[in-house]
Amino acid sequence: MIVFGGNASSELAAEVSSLLGCELGESTVKRFPDGELYVKIDTPVNGEDIVVIQSTAPPQNENLAELLFMMDALKDLGADITAVVPYYGYGRQDKAFKDGEAVTSRTIAKHIQMSASRVLTVNPHKEHVLDYFDVPAQSLDASPLIGGYFKKMDLDNPLVVAPDAGSIGLARQVAGIVGCECGNCEKKRLGPGKVITSAEKLNLDGDDVIIVDDIIDSGGTIVEAVKALKGKGAGSVYVACIHPVLTNNAHERILGVAEDLIATNTIKTPYSRISVAPVIFEGLKDL
Ligand code: R5P
Repeated sequence: MIVFGGNASSELAAEVSSLLGCELGESTVKRFPDGELYVKIDTPVNGEDIVVIQSTAPPQNENLAELLFMMDALKDLGADITAVVPYYGYGRQDKAFKDGEAVTSRTIAKHIQMSASRVLTVNPHKEHVLDYFDVPAQSLDASPLIGGYFKKMDLDNPLVVAPDAGSIGLARQVAGIVGCECGNCEKKRLGPGKVITSAEKLNLDGDDVIIVDDIIDSGGTIVEAVKALKGKGAGSVYVACIHPVLTNNAHERILGVAEDLIATNTIKTPYSRISVAPVIFEGLKDL
């Protein structure tokens, strides 16, 4: 087996290849003067099983193009490819919310499976995007890694909270590992980046709250949740997520109200302190 990493996930690919004890493939990705990408596979490939790891995080169109070009070049070399897309960009448009909208998560699936024989992704926003693949597609769960991080912190009076009802499953998983209770805020979305949140159902008395969400994008959801929780009597508030998209300096707004921001490295950021390499290793080791 050889593991190749695209530019969005190069360090993660190196970590996974070392856990698997297999070669890390080399490739050249350059840009033509007009902005188009040039991709070349440099490591000789002779029918081995190939893993390509690349998140389609922002800049998503560029990272997606790089993934598709790498896989197509590898397929030309006779490779059988497993695509690992730690952050599945375009995943939130999982259906046509209005007539005429492109179901972008499905379009992406169609393109990835042109070269990949199987696909792994980490905590997709909606699990059913996996159904858009005709090849085997599986999600990996990084929530135990987040739970493990906070268990080690040994907070005095921890409580895991989901910022909305949609993330309660994730919060339960994390709370199970930390060994504490969990609850959720109530969120109403007014538009992209605009939400109102309340924590009316939670009784807080100086609890060390760990807020967990799958994606933090504009940070609007989290900032409103932190404010609501502090208003209800939370003590320290730690923010954690699987996928730190963090657009428009979301991290600054979050760290203005919360004690810390912790994320996984499905997207590379200064807050990506938890590596998902072990869950990707688990997903690949039996191939
Ligand atoms: C929504 O259902 C997701 O779980 C996240 O809460 C959402 O994507 C976060 O977006 P933002 O950071 O822009 O509020």
